[in-house]
Amino acid sequence: MPTLTQDQPSTQIEPNAHDAIPDLPGDRSLDDLKHRLVKTYDDKAKHYDVDRAVNRATRYYFANSYRTLESIMDKTHRDSVHVDMPVGTGKFLLHLRQRGYAHRMIGIDIAAGMLGVCADESQKSGADLILSMGDAYKLPLPDNSVDIFTCLRLTHLLPKSTWPAIIAEMRRVLRPGGQLIIEMRNVLRGITCQMLVSAFRSRRDTHPHTFVSPPEASKLFTDWNDVRMQGVGLDGTCTLSRFLPPVGKGLHLLEANSPVRYLSKTLLVQARKPKASC
Ligand SMILES: C[S@@+](CC[C@H](N)C(=O)[O-])C[C@H]1O[C@@H](n2cnc3c(N)ncnc32)[C@H](O)[C@@H]1O
Repeated sequence: MPTLTQDQPSTQIEPNAHDAIPDLPGDRSLDDLKHRLVKTYDDKAKHYDVDRAVNRATRYYFANSYRTLESIMDKTHRDSVHVDMPVGTGKFLLHLRQRGYAHRMIGIDIAAGMLGVCADESQKSGADLILSMGDAYKLPLPDNSVDIFTCLRLTHLLPKSTWPAIIAEMRRVLRPGGQLIIEMRNVLRGITCQMLVSAFRSRRDTHPHTFVSPPEASKLFTDWNDVRMQGVGLDGTCTLSRFLPPVGKGLHLLEANSPVRYLSKTLLVQARKPKASC
């Protein structure tokens, strides 16, 4: 069992790696980027969920994403340990609680503002989440302690050259045979012109958005077992769903499972830590 969970009230936030955010050797800019991201998300935290709920296409995207995640996640029991990092405002874990999942859920994030909102929501709904402040590059968890690790909407914010380091951290904390599900932004969605839009958008943002192609994503998991990839959010279906809600709901199957998944907005990669590794 991860030590951070011991003797802690369920929604208390542990100060952790945040005070001493580690830099990768010789990479000053990574440290700057982390601080910029903390500020960005601390500033956004209070309005984050409201902003996200306003846009119908975004709501459609998240409904599809959560449906797909539930369909690929390992079966859980009460003692299963599930870490969601970055937990943000806790939307995914709170969704799972609402759907009746009763396993142990730990949320980790680097931004105190996002964790604060998550703690409030968790308390309000009695969701009993365990929250900890921490950095993807140095997770506040012991080795081999986690059954399921979800990482949603983080990699696009971080330099691709550092992804192997965060994936290695997730692998370290997973128990042998444990499941990782990680979401990445798909470069091939550019075929439907969205990449241009995103490129313009990201120039205005405080950080660049990093995309990955399906073969590139696969290469990051060559030493994992049972690697699989699903697509979520085929461009155009969000718009279509606005006019044809019943059709829109069904379209997520096409997005997730057919070859056109490679044109989706994001890729969900699932992989299993080999049983022999520790
Ligand atoms: C786009 S939000 C996604 C949050 C959540 N996964 C979701 O889907 O709603 C990105 C989150 O990543 C967090 N973050 C950024 N850099 C991080 C790092 N190095 N370690 C942990 N969390 C980080 C931010 O604080 C923010 O909450």
